[in-house]
Amino acid sequence: MVNKKIKTKVYPNSKSGSKIFAKSLVNEINEVLFKKKYCLISIPTGNTPTDLYKELIELYKKKKISFKNILFFNLDEFYPISKDDIQSYNYYLNEKLFNHIDIPKKNINMLNGDINENNINSHCISFEDKIKRLGGLDIQVLGIGQNGHIGFNEPGSLIDSKTRKVNISDHSLSIISNEFNNKNEIPKEALTMGVDTILSSNKIFLLAWGKTKSTIIGKTIKNKITKNIPATYLKNHNDVTFILDKYSSSKI
Ligand code: GLP
Repeated sequence: MVNKKIKTKVYPNSKSGSKIFAKSLVNEINEVLFKKKYCLISIPTGNTPTDLYKELIELYKKKKISFKNILFFNLDEFYPISKDDIQSYNYYLNEKLFNHIDIPKKNINMLNGDINENNINSHCISFEDKIKRLGGLDIQVLGIGQNGHIGFNEPGSLIDSKTRKVNISDHSLSIISNEFNNKNEIPKEALTMGVDTILSSNKIFLLAWGKTKSTIIGKTIKNKITKNIPATYLKNHNDVTFILDKYSSSKI
């Protein structure tokens, strides 16, 4: 493992950061599509990318991008959860992005939180295989948990981990619980792309806004690679950019 440099871009706030990042993401995607037929991109959920998705919809309406040749792979999903559950990441991505753009349904590859326990392994393997068969992810966009998780790769996750079912940490559950109305319904497990899957992407962008992310962003940038902060694994990749605002970047 080599500790390579993470590039950072700092914006005044999440609104301006999302707007500028959306434009550069569209440029990145169009560059990929100039060279090959499909662009494989993986995107996160959570509060962090909501303005990014609004901006992408605006850019689509202004005809700056078409999503027809984009293949989306989602990063993580609760388990168990129905894809129609309003708390599911499936529902989130449909509502916040896919229903508003020209992405063909067949191009959307979601981890299925509704799958029978016995079929999880084969589901995760075919998710990985599909990415590999199509030539690998071109672009990975990430958020970050306050404990340094990426996707649902919680502290302790290994650098060579693949897409799998994981336990959600108590720390993450306590944060997630603010978003669930019925606390008894919070799933304790999730399906997530693995660290290895994430690192196999050609380019990686990690978004973090606000003061609550400043400590973990500071630690991720300053610490050596450690399994206790999965986001530090990104230092093993050649092309990672952290997209920050002045609050989340205050400890770098
Ligand atoms: C969630 C998800 C991640 C997400 C992260 C940050 O629990 N597992 O994919 O990136 O935590 O979420 P937020 O953007 O709401 O802070």
